[in-house]
Amino acid sequence: MTKPVKIILDCDPGHDDAAAILMAAVHPAIEMKAVTVVAGNQTLEKTARNALNVCSASGRCGLIPVAAGMSRPIVRQQVIAGDIHGVSGLDGPSFGPPDIEMDPRHAVDLIIETLMASDGDITVVPTGPLSNMAMALRMEPRIAGKIEQIVLMGGAYQLGNVTPSAEFNIYADPEAAHIVFTCGRPIVMMGLDVTRKVLATPDVIARVRSLGSTQAVLFAEMMEFFAKTQKEIFGWEGPPLHDPTTIAWLIDPGCVEVKPMRVEIELRGELAYGRTCCDFFGLENSNDSPGSVTFVEKSALDRPKSANARVAVDINAARFWDIVYETFAMYGK
Ligand code: RIB
Ligand code: CA
Repeated sequence: MTKPVKIILDCDPGHDDAAAILMAAVHPAIEMKAVTVVAGNQTLEKTARNALNVCSASGRCGLIPVAAGMSRPIVRQQVIAGDIHGVSGLDGPSFGPPDIEMDPRHAVDLIIETLMASDGDITVVPTGPLSNMAMALRMEPRIAGKIEQIVLMGGAYQLGNVTPSAEFNIYADPEAAHIVFTCGRPIVMMGLDVTRKVLATPDVIARVRSLGSTQAVLFAEMMEFFAKTQKEIFGWEGPPLHDPTTIAWLIDPGCVEVKPMRVEIELRGELAYGRTCCDFFGLENSNDSPGSVTFVEKSALDRPKSANARVAVDINAARFWDIVYETFAMYGK
C-alpha cells in the first residue's frame, strides 16, 4: 500500500465540493491535513457553515482543522452562484448541529502554517475560487517550495459556464488564478472539458444511494437538488460532478487523460475576463511558430511560452463513477 497523499482541500461548498470532502475524508489513499474555505458558490458565512456541516457528517474530520478564509476576491467585485447551489449554498439536505467547530485561524494563515511545517509533501486541492491560495502565496512566498503539486478544479480550454469564455472558479477571482498559475509549482487542471463528461444522472445517484449509509444518502440528496438547477440552466441530464474529479485523480490518475499546456488567465479582456487561455496545440511554446505568424520585432508577446500545467482532456466516466461508488461504500451501510 503506497503512502496516502497529504492534501489541503480549499473549497467553497457547494454540492460538488461537499462530495469531494466526503470522498477525501474516507478514502485511505488521501490524508486531509486541513479543509480551508473560501467565498464562491455562496458567501463565506454560508460556505464555511456548509463545510463544517459536511465535515461533521463525514464522521471522519474530528482531528482536521476547518478554517474560513477570504470573504471577497482580491480585485474584482464579488460574484456567487446562488442560482446553482441555492440560497444556503447547499440546498437540498438538512443537517443536524455539527459536532466539530471552526478553527479560529484564518484559512490563509492555516494554509501557510500547514505548508511551512510540512516536509514539502502536501498536495493543495483547490475546488473553489483561488483567493485563499493566492493570498497565501503573496503573504508567504516560501510556501511555493513546500507545495508538492496543485490539483485544482477550474477553467476550461473550451466553453465557459458563467460567461461563454470563463469558468466560475477562475471568473470569481481571475487575479488570484493568475497568481496561482504563475507560482511555478506543478499544476493539474480539471476543467469543464472533462467535468461535463461525468454527469450524476438518476442511475448514478440511485447506485450510490443504494449503499444506504448516512453519507451515501447525503450524496444522493445533494445531487438531486444540484440536478434541478443544472437541468434548468444547462439542460443537463445530471449535474456535472466537477470537484470530485480532483479526488478521483489522486485516487487513480489513470482515470483522467492530461496534456501539458501553457495556461494563462485573461485579466484585461472585456468579453473573456477570467478565461483560462490554454495553448492546446502548443502554438506559443517555441520561437518558431508552426506556420501561423512570425514576429517582425520583439514584443511582450514573444515566445516561447512553455507549459505550466497539465490540463485534463478526457476522463474515463465509467471508472470515475466506480471510484465514487467504491469510495462511498467505504462508509459502510
Ligand atoms: O464551475 C464549477 C466550479 O464552480 C465548481 O467547483 C463549483 O463548486 C463551483 O465552485
Ligand atoms: Ca467548488
